[in-house]
Amino acid sequence: MKKVIFDVDTGIDDAMAIAYAVNSPELDLLGLTTSYGNVAVDEATRNTLAVLEKLGRKIPVYAGTAKPLVRGNREGFAKKVHGEDGLGNVLNFEPAASAETQFAVDFIIEKVKKHPNEVTIIAVGPLTNLALALQKAPEIVEHVSDVVIMGGAVFVPGNATPHAEANIFTDPEAAKIVLSSGLPITLVGLDVTMQTLLPREKVDAWRGSEVGDFFADMVGFYHDFYESANPGIGGCGLHDPLAVGVAIDPSLVKAKDIAVDVTSEGKEDGRTIPIMEGNPKIQVCTEVDAQAFLDHFLKRVPTAQ
Ligand code: BDR
Ligand code: CA
Repeated sequence: MKKVIFDVDTGIDDAMAIAYAVNSPELDLLGLTTSYGNVAVDEATRNTLAVLEKLGRKIPVYAGTAKPLVRGNREGFAKKVHGEDGLGNVLNFEPAASAETQFAVDFIIEKVKKHPNEVTIIAVGPLTNLALALQKAPEIVEHVSDVVIMGGAVFVPGNATPHAEANIFTDPEAAKIVLSSGLPITLVGLDVTMQTLLPREKVDAWRGSEVGDFFADMVGFYHDFYESANPGIGGCGLHDPLAVGVAIDPSLVKAKDIAVDVTSEGKEDGRTIPIMEGNPKIQVCTEVDAQAFLDHFLKRVPTAQ
């Protein structure tokens, strides 16, 4: 079992990724850390607790940073994708549980030091929490087992802008720190996540239980957004779930061993640029066995079959 810290900014695909992770016996979730991004950090924390409650799981949740490292928050740009509440406007209860009192960044540092070379970090929101952890305790670079990041559009167009993927666009300075840190990173970007679409009819098959209806309604909103943005696409991107899939089974993807720089100004703000001969190198995913991944995902989301 891999010890995992899962960093989320819980919108709709984060919620599916949480379901996938908690239903995966290969992963031992030490805790979920939250970030602003798709919604404000308090909302991301609430959403994370609510999704865990719907799934009937108790895993500690640690609230993280509320804004990017050096710039202002690009408030609200994800609401059309994830809804006003971040969960497709289906959230109709306040979660019973509360977040832990420890700051997410300190939790990350503490757990990595407690379990040297054993902790996998899966990060599927802006990279601010991770950058802050590296700034506060640079020595953790040597002690993280591996990091799987959903972010970037290295050889393909962006989604937040023609050049930038949303997680990197939200905090390019943090992304630059993390991607150039020397951490053992696998970057699961739009290069592969736009190849793993979830067809709408698969989601309709989830209906018939409280948790199934909750996920089907929520993902229905995401499908509507994808369809309006890309008529005829026939599905929604499984961005954050694919990062979980790669953490479970790296053989789902093929990657290039290259460096990645991040643009932090101008019209290409947030762009991830491949530097073929640069250092430090990271694994940039470029191919995915989409069918194998989708089959695996659907066996476990929203509940294990
Ligand atoms: C990423 O951006 C967010 O909106 C999603 O949750 C995902 O992490 C996709 O670009
Ligand atoms: Ca996310």
